[in-house]
Amino acid sequence: MDLHINGTDYTVAEGSGRLLVYTLRDELGLTGTKIGCAAGFCGACTVMVEGVARRSCLTPLAEVEGKSITTIEGLARRAEDGAWLLHPVQQAFVDAQVPQCGWCMSGQIMTAAAYLGQNPAPTEEELVAAMAENYCRCGCYHRIRRAVVAAAGQSVQAGSEEAA
Ligand code: FES
Ligand code: FES
Repeated sequence: MDLHINGTDYTVAEGSGRLLVYTLRDELGLTGTKIGCAAGFCGACTVMVEGVARRSCLTPLAEVEGKSITTIEGLARRAEDGAWLLHPVQQAFVDAQVPQCGWCMSGQIMTAAAYLGQNPAPTEEELVAAMAENYCRCGCYHRIRRAVVAAAGQSVQAGSEEAA
């Protein structure tokens, strides 16, 4: 089975009902995508499929074969001088020093990046609603909100597909 992840083509083992998060982490070493509840509730495993946020713990491989998948590892892009440029959401999370343990963070960032990629000028209330299903056991919600609001309105295209 062929998967297109962060601009790279991978051939992975096919398995009936095999879920994307385990292939990402266990087979491809893309461990930036985390597992929290493994049941679709927490958002820690969020990636983008064709630019849309998707819970990889609920996503069978068969549903994403041939589609463009972006994980947290593919969100930054290369500048012309070869330096890495963080996605605006990533940079906002750094600037606001959001993470505590960090476990939920890639899911938070991917959810925000996907939402802002489709809704570049949301209201704060819309942003809060868009992030409402991503949980943070460390309770970093104020900083998450500050970071996502700061990132809104900037250029927020997912980086990897346009990079390299
Ligand atoms: S690990 Fe996928 S939603 Fe919690
Ligand atoms: S930073 Fe620890 S769960 Fe969110």
